[in-house]
Amino acid sequence: MRAIAWLALLATGACSGELSVLDPRGPGAARIERLWWVLFALAAAVCALVALLILYSLRRGRRDLTDDIDKRNVSWGDRFIGITGAAIPVVILMGTFLYSLGEMNRLAAGNEDETDLAIEVIAHNWWWEARYPNGATTANEIHIPTGERVRVVLQSADVLHSFWVPRLQAKMDNIPGTDNEIWIEADSPGRYRGQCAEFCGLQHAHMAVFVVAQSPSDFAEWYANEASPAPEPATASAGDGEEVFLSSSCVGCHAIRGTEADAEVGPDLTHLAGRRTLLAGKMPSTRSVLETLIVDPQSLKPGIGMPPTELTAAELEALLDYLESLR
Ligand code: CUA
Repeated sequence: MRAIAWLALLATGACSGELSVLDPRGPGAARIERLWWVLFALAAAVCALVALLILYSLRRGRRDLTDDIDKRNVSWGDRFIGITGAAIPVVILMGTFLYSLGEMNRLAAGNEDETDLAIEVIAHNWWWEARYPNGATTANEIHIPTGERVRVVLQSADVLHSFWVPRLQAKMDNIPGTDNEIWIEADSPGRYRGQCAEFCGLQHAHMAVFVVAQSPSDFAEWYANEASPAPEPATASAGDGEEVFLSSSCVGCHAIRGTEADAEVGPDLTHLAGRRTLLAGKMPSTRSVLETLIVDPQSLKPGIGMPPTELTAAELEALLDYLESLR
C-alpha cells in the first residue's frame, strides 16, 4: 500500500504543480521536459534489458564445468559479450552527452536578437528586485508579455543565489560582480512560481519569485503604469500616511518614485499595492500582514534586514492607508 501511495504522490506531485519541470508552460521548459523524458526512456530501456539478461542467465544456470573453456580459443559468443558490453554503454553515454550539450547550448543561446525587453533581476538576502528598461522597478513579481522571449540579466547584491522558475526555464545563478543571462518565455498568461535554488542563508527557503505572464496588451498597461511615479494620495489619511513614511525610518531603505524617498536598500514601493504577495512570496499581501511587517518584521521572517518601526496607532493606520493606495 505504501509503495502505491508513493507512486501516486510521485505521479501527482512531481509531474504537475507549480514547481514541476514536467509541467512546462514555455519553450525553454518544454525543451528540458523533452530531454528528461528521452533520458528516462533510455534509462528505463537499459534497466529492463539488464533485468531480462539477469533473468535469462538465472534460468539458463551455471555453465557445465566439464565443458572446458579453452583460453587461447575465445569463442565468438565471448567476444560478442566483451565488445558489446563496452560498445553499447559508450554509444549510449556519448549520445546522451552530446544531445544534452546541444540542448544546453540551445537553452542558453538565441536571446540577443529576439527581444527588446531585458529585465535586470537582482537577488538580495532574501528577495528579488526587477528593473526594467523604462525605469519600472518592482520586487518578487516579475511581469512579462506572453509569447515573447524576454532577456533576463541576473545579478546579486550580496551572496550567491539562483533564479529558477521550473515551468519556464532552466535555473541560472545570480553571482555577485557578474552578469549572467538567461531568457524566459511563457506560452499563456499565468503566475509561474520560482524559487531561489542556491542556499543563501536563513530565509533561503522563503525566497520565492513569481513570473506574471500577461497578454501583450495587459503587459503594456502594467509596464507603463509601473514606470510612472506613485499616485498622489487621494484621501486625507493617505496624505498623512505619506508624511509618516517620509518622516520615519522607512525612507532610509525604500524608494517611492515621485516622492523624496529614493533609497535602494529594500524593495521599491512605488506600486506596492499592485503586488499580490509580500516577503518574497511568503505571505499574501493583506493589510494585517503589512502591519506586522512594519511593526514586527522579525516575527514574519527571522533574519530579515528590515528593523521594526515604532509608530502610534494613528500613524500606523495612516501609513497603511497610504501604502494600500500605491497601485
Ligand atoms: Cu537566495 Cu537562496
